[in-house]
Amino acid sequence: MQIWARKFLPVPWLLCGPRRYASSSFKAVDLQLEMTQKPHKKPDPSKPLLFGKTFTDHMLMVEWNREKGWGQPRIQPFQTLTLHPASSALHYSLQLFEGMKAFKGRDQQVRLFRPWLNMDRMLRSALRLCLPSFDKVELLECIRRLVEVDKDWVPSGAGTSLYVRPVFIGNQPSLGVGNPTQALLYVILCPVGSYFPGDALSPVSLLADPTFIRAWVGGVGDCKLGGNYGPTVFVQQEAEKRGCEQVLWLYGPDHQLTEVGTMNIFIFWTYEDGVLELVTPPLDGVILPGVVRQSLLDLAHSWGEFRVTEQKITMKEFMRALEDGRVREVFGSGTACQVCPVHRILYEGKHLHIPTMENGPELILRFQKELKAIQCGTKAHEWMLLV
Ligand SMILES: Cc1ncc(COP(=O)(O)O)c(C=O)c1O
Repeated sequence: MQIWARKFLPVPWLLCGPRRYASSSFKAVDLQLEMTQKPHKKPDPSKPLLFGKTFTDHMLMVEWNREKGWGQPRIQPFQTLTLHPASSALHYSLQLFEGMKAFKGRDQQVRLFRPWLNMDRMLRSALRLCLPSFDKVELLECIRRLVEVDKDWVPSGAGTSLYVRPVFIGNQPSLGVGNPTQALLYVILCPVGSYFPGDALSPVSLLADPTFIRAWVGGVGDCKLGGNYGPTVFVQQEAEKRGCEQVLWLYGPDHQLTEVGTMNIFIFWTYEDGVLELVTPPLDGVILPGVVRQSLLDLAHSWGEFRVTEQKITMKEFMRALEDGRVREVFGSGTACQVCPVHRILYEGKHLHIPTMENGPELILRFQKELKAIQCGTKAHEWMLLV
């Protein structure tokens, strides 16, 4: 460093370098808006909307680099990205994403479901990848403005919504594995149809094969990193080859039940001590802290009608409960489906029948109804952010 700099620059700058003065977050007040001149054709409401295939007219884009910090956020026409072929996202999975939904209420108002939890998770994922920090309140306000711009794209049919996909990637043009010096945060939107067409709950079957492991203690299974998902496609195909629809991810020598496909898992049963309980595995680093998972726990706690626990569940315990007739309902939870019943598990060559559907499924239907009332209701609810 030159002598003049040592003499005139404040001590913290000398200690921490120029990054200290780079802007620590973009701000929603700086948002620039460029409206599209060529709006896309809106999907035909009489045809089913396939997940992730239709995109709205606009996207949010914010760039970051180590020297200047965050740039101005912009809402711009939906467009393809130009990436340097050495971008770290393309080589080392320096990439994370989020998934949340906006719903059109019976009053035609659009609201986002618990987006604050997605912002928390996104920032945690970013810090785990050494991507730059941002202000969660500012990002959420930018997303709210984006949804507002493309409000006409939010479908209003039963079970439909607007899926919001924030993405954050390292795009430095260098092959070195190291701290990112350049990054890109963007958000795209897709109108999506009902997960269960006709609103009929259809249960799924699961392959539980402990030779496949999704996440491990000390790993990154609790972050929503793209690198956690690509390798699961092979296992999903294996499940399909063996006549199952999804994967039940087991973990450890005691074959703990952890997640279902890209959903958290819940069991509603009478535990060994004779108490009726709803159980889901604890957030021990292997489990993705799902927004719907948290919502089901919050709802069940608020009812106070049965015990609600976050405990490890092993296949041995689960099979004993099945044999004793203590299992009432098994289901997955996630933004895509909200709550999805499980009726069969293939484990160690045996097809285990789960009596979820025979039991109503009372709890699943109650959760579905409560969530729908909050998401599409006309009443203000603290979980919903008005767009
Ligand atoms: C591995 C995994 N588990 C659980 C979930 C459910 O999380 P959420 O309820 O936030 O959609 C998801 C979906 O994002 C997931 O990918």
